[in-house]
Order: sequence, then structure tokens, then C-alpha cells
Amino acid sequence: EAAEKGGFEYFMDKEIQEQPDAIANTLRGHFDGTSILLDEQRLGDDELRTIDKVVVVACGSAYHSGLVAKYAIEHWTRLPVEVELASEFRYRDPVLTRDTLVVAVSQSGETADTLEAVRHAREQKARVLAVCNTNGSQIPRESDAVLYTHAGPEIGVASTKAFMAQVVANYLVGLALAQARGVKYSDEVARDFADLSAMPAAVAETLTRMDPVRALGQELVDAKAVLFLGRHVGFPVALEGALKLKELAYMHAEGFAAGELKHGPIALIEEGLPVVVVTPSPKLRPLLHSKLLSNIREIQARGARTIVICEDGDDIVAPFADTLISLPSVPVLMQPLVATVPLQILAAEIARARGFDVDKPRNLAKSVTVE
Ligand code: G6P
Repeated sequence: EAAEKGGFEYFMDKEIQEQPDAIANTLRGHFDGTSILLDEQRLGDDELRTIDKVVVVACGSAYHSGLVAKYAIEHWTRLPVEVELASEFRYRDPVLTRDTLVVAVSQSGETADTLEAVRHAREQKARVLAVCNTNGSQIPRESDAVLYTHAGPEIGVASTKAFMAQVVANYLVGLALAQARGVKYSDEVARDFADLSAMPAAVAETLTRMDPVRALGQELVDAKAVLFLGRHVGFPVALEGALKLKELAYMHAEGFAAGELKHGPIALIEEGLPVVVVTPSPKLRPLLHSKLLSNIREIQARGARTIVICEDGDDIVAPFADTLISLPSVPVLMQPLVATVPLQILAAEIARARGFDVDKPRNLAKSVTVE
């Protein structure tokens, strides 16, 4: 087992480092210079063209990958996208037609709730595309089509590289749909694909900057709770950061949309409470950036310990950060792929410092095959 861990203490440590490869391998072969090819699928362009709604169903981190992708798919395709927890989906009589594309995202391909959601969607005659990391597993077998993520086997129970690959695969679905619908031309798709193709290097660069995050993990070992705030794509990143911390460190953690702060969460702020803020780019998103900045000032004024994840060279936010974690500058929709990394490492580090098994958190299973 030590050999399989490749010199890392835990599989999760290794899997976090493998994220650039997971992204690159998931992208490989899906763009021919003109068109996005979902070549492992059996849904043709003719079928994609008739789609009038996208519904992503998934659980856990896979669900968060759908929440991230909603921003990209709606922006690119101009189609409405719903993202739903698989365990809720079929119990609420969702509106599905032949022209609904249900994207079932699952690393294992065996998650019972997601499988039941697929069955329900197919009974309602929706088209079902599985985004899956495990060849020949049940969810792809029961779907109309499959787009495989190529993250490689993931052993750590808490998803890391598979989540990254899911985000990328969901983005490919969005680009393919946009192209089939004629709302994006080849040159635009080429640009978006180039943005995606630059992400393995950006994530690799991010991974070289994580020593301060590890040090922070040691400092937060006795924290009672940690809050995570974000806006736009930073919001689902905040949810994923909170989930990782719950799963691994058994610490109370919540992710919030920063704009909701004044509608409740701000009441939780007290002296010393660590709050991680995923900040948008000041250059690309100046308005959102300034809104987030005022949130940071509000919580700092109430004693919170501000941990700010921001873009390189963001001098505006720096004075309000008790801890500043700066990441490579990337296009807006790509930010989740870099910003998730420090949150994964923070959770793993706190868990390690607390003496917990990072690969096998208590009460959790890698693949949940009962509802
Ligand atoms: C479990 C795992 C999570 C995972 C979720 C969904 O809860 O601990 O890491 O995100 O299942 O799994 P799936 O295999 O469907 O992606």
C-alpha cells in the first residue's frame, strides 16, 4: 500500500497532486480543432439540438460539480440548467420531457440515489447522459450515453481529483450543447477549450503555493467552526470547501453565498471565527469583487479571522485579509478549478493535525449503494 501511495502519507494527498493530470486526461481527445467531441456518447448533434433544459443530478461533491457547471452551461448555451440532489429529484415529480437532458454525475457510477434518479428520468423519457469515472459501472450502463472522466481510480473517500474532472466534463457537455445549438461558433469554442486546456498548468502552479495553507491548517486545529463564503462560481466552491472540512476534520463548517451574509450567517460571526472567502477577480469581476470586499470588512469588523482566497496581485483585498492565499489569475469560469485546491488541502491538513485518517473518514463510504 505504501508503494501505491507513491511516497505520500495518504491517498488523498496523492490524488490532490494528480489533479492537473485528471483535468488533462479528461479533456484529451474532446476537441478536434473545430468541434467538441463527446465521442464516448451516443447522443448525436441532432438530439442535442432539440434539448430545451438541462438537469444535473448527483450527490456530495459530484452535486457541487453540477452547481459549478450551471454557471458555465447557462452562460454558454442559454438553456436553463437545474441542479438537484439525486436523493430529492424523483420524489418531487420533476418536469421532464424528451427534450430534457439529465446529466447524472457520479465518480463511482454506483451511487444508489443517482442511479434511481437516472431510472426515473428514463421512465419519463428524458435523455440521460452519465458523467462517470468508473468504466462499465451501473449508472453509465443504464444511461443513454456516457462521458467518462479520466481522473483514474480515487481511493480517498472524500472526492478531490474526481470532482475536478467532473467540473471539466460538465463544461464539455455545455460546450457541446452550445455548439450543437449554434449559439457558439468554432472559434469561440476553441477559445473556451483553450481556457480549459490551460488549467492543468494553473492547478499545478497552485499546488506549488500550498505551504501557507498547510501552516494555516495547523493553526486552525482547535477551531470550533469554519465558515466559507463565495459569490457566483465561488459559492459552490465555498460549499465544497465546507463539505471537505466536515467530511475529513469532523468540524462544523458551512458554505454561504456571500450576499446572504446579512440575511442570517452574519449572526454567527464572533471573535476569532475563521471565515474563508473565495474572492472573484478584481479585474474580471470588479462589481462582485467590491461587494465581496464589503462583506469581508463587515465580518472583520465583528472579529472574524479572514482567510482570503484571491487572485494574484489583488492589492485591494490584501489589507483586509488576516491570511491571504493568492492563486494564479484565470478566466472567471475556470476559477473553481484553482480555488478548490487550497480548500481541499486545508481540510486534509486540519484532519491530519487532529489525528484522523484522511482517507477513511468515520461513518462515510466511498460509494453509497443504499438509498
Ligand atoms: C460519497 C463520497 C463523496 C462523493 C459522493 C458521491 O458520499 O464520500 O466523496 O462525492 O459519495 O459519489 P459518486 O460516486 O456518485 O460521485
